[in-house]
Amino acid sequence: MSILVTGGAGYVGGAVVDHLIEQGEAVVVVDNLSRSPDSALPPGVPFYQADIGDREAIAGIVRDHEIEACLHFAGLIAVGESVEQPGLYFEQNVSQTIDLLDVLATNGVNNVVFSSSAAVYGEPDQIPITEDHPHRPTSPYGSTKSIVEQILAQYDLTGMIRSVSLRYFNAAGAAPGRSERHTPETHLIPLAIDAALALRDPLTVFGTDYDTPDGTAVRDYVHVIDLADAHLRALDYLHGGGATEALNLGNGEGYSVMQVIESVSRVAGREVPFEFGARRPGDPPVLVASADRARLILDWVPQHPDLDAIVSSAWASRTPA
Ligand SMILES: NC(=O)c1ccc[n+]([C@@H]2O[C@H](COP(=O)([O-])OP(=O)(O)OC[C@H]3O[C@@H](n4cnc5c(N)ncnc54)[C@H](O)[C@@H]3O)[C@@H](O)[C@H]2O)c1
Repeated sequence: MSILVTGGAGYVGGAVVDHLIEQGEAVVVVDNLSRSPDSALPPGVPFYQADIGDREAIAGIVRDHEIEACLHFAGLIAVGESVEQPGLYFEQNVSQTIDLLDVLATNGVNNVVFSSSAAVYGEPDQIPITEDHPHRPTSPYGSTKSIVEQILAQYDLTGMIRSVSLRYFNAAGAAPGRSERHTPETHLIPLAIDAALALRDPLTVFGTDYDTPDGTAVRDYVHVIDLADAHLRALDYLHGGGATEALNLGNGEGYSVMQVIESVSRVAGREVPFEFGARRPGDPPVLVASADRARLILDWVPQHPDLDAIVSSAWASRTPA
């Protein structure tokens, strides 16, 4: 019996694959490599380059490897790109997930952990955000996550799939031997590090007039190692018969863009060149999680909440000795 990891060549999925292997689990990875062309998997992990919407390929993998659960990371993740190409996001993240879930359900794979996002909430009514906050996504990307959560809720009612949707806030930091990279990169910490290393143009700080202490947007950064831990706990929870859930994953503490830039400067020992730009449409001022429910249901307590520690791991991965 094996666990299917979709998007396992990516940033978060790759860290989770490493963690599963460390725990002695049998893992199979499917990824089309569209967004992680130079990713490395641990030796011996069966890998299939395929779309999650390729029903024939997925059905063959499920049968050949006796798949018993799926961790579903695969998808496109850039909010701005989703605004420019909504159709691409609905096709990749929703249509292809519908294909995937149908193949899983009809082949008796009953347990799914889904990578959802704080983007389902849109502009929050209150901080910290709890899971019962209404879904009001402000981008096609956030909408794809909300739609897949609704589909999973219906699969739960049919009795075919139980699932845990994990709503990550800002995944950050690096797991050992892996760097924090995306194609294209849109995340603040790797962009700030590359700006400090003069590997890219100065960083743009989008929005300086938010109602926050320094006027820049505040986000909740959660270490990718803590996310990996939450996935294994979610899998155990489902294996133990746990009911379908949607859980926030964050540290419950927010840092502004300027605080992140200061942290990168401290860790790197050099300035981060930056310039100020206009707000991006749909970017809320503050997104901070209440992760009380994940603590209650999964006994999940982040072990790496410190921002400088998160940034240090990202810096070390980008500048190996
Ligand atoms: N990184 C974050 O801060 C964050 C926050 C919230 C949610 N998430 C979600 O977590 C998941 C993983 O994010 P990540 O940061 O590791 O992104 P990533 O881009 O590094 O990984 C996604 C992987 O999926 C693959 N992929 C994309 N579409 C595919 C398809 N149709 N078929 C097969 N493979 C496909 C890509 O090649 C890539 O390797 C995503 O679903 C993302 O929406 C990430």
